[in-house]
Amino acid sequence: MIANVLFANVLFVCLGNICRSPLAEAALRRAVTARALNIGVDSAGTGDWHVGKPPDRRAMAVARRHGIDISGYRARQISAEDFLRFTHILALDADNLRDLEAERPIGATAHLSLLLDYVPGRTGTGVVDPYFGEDEGFDATWADVTMGVEGFLNALTGRATV
Ligand code: 4NP
Repeated sequence: MIANVLFANVLFVCLGNICRSPLAEAALRRAVTARALNIGVDSAGTGDWHVGKPPDRRAMAVARRHGIDISGYRARQISAEDFLRFTHILALDADNLRDLEAERPIGATAHLSLLLDYVPGRTGTGVVDPYFGEDEGFDATWADVTMGVEGFLNALTGRATV
């Protein structure tokens, strides 16, 4: 058997780390497990309002509908060392990316990009913040993050399709 030598350590970043980035984390964790890939996964927020809190109940509900329990996740804020520890930092929207670029320490090695840059036709766009919207917004979030994760993995593994 040929060893899987691909390695990446991926951090998803949104504003609060209770809605979008935990769902992206859940989607990538599932894909990584399904494909037996050697990829680390985590998420964080640019803000600190929800540090230590579980995901938004609506995010937990949509994950649950897709068979994933994210109730054990806890929000944290991005730190300077994350820019060294992770190979890829994927921002959920353009504001998040701008904040990350502003915080990026000298010598940072992580590659910064927008999650939806990996989805054909969605380059430069963000995953809409569902926090202040209706419950249904979380279904759109899930659809976006799963597409982003598929596109990211395809780019990482050099496959046009999964
Ligand atoms: P997230 O959503 O960035 O996807 O986790 C938000 C969560 C909380 C707030 C805004 C967005 N907030 O203003 O508290």
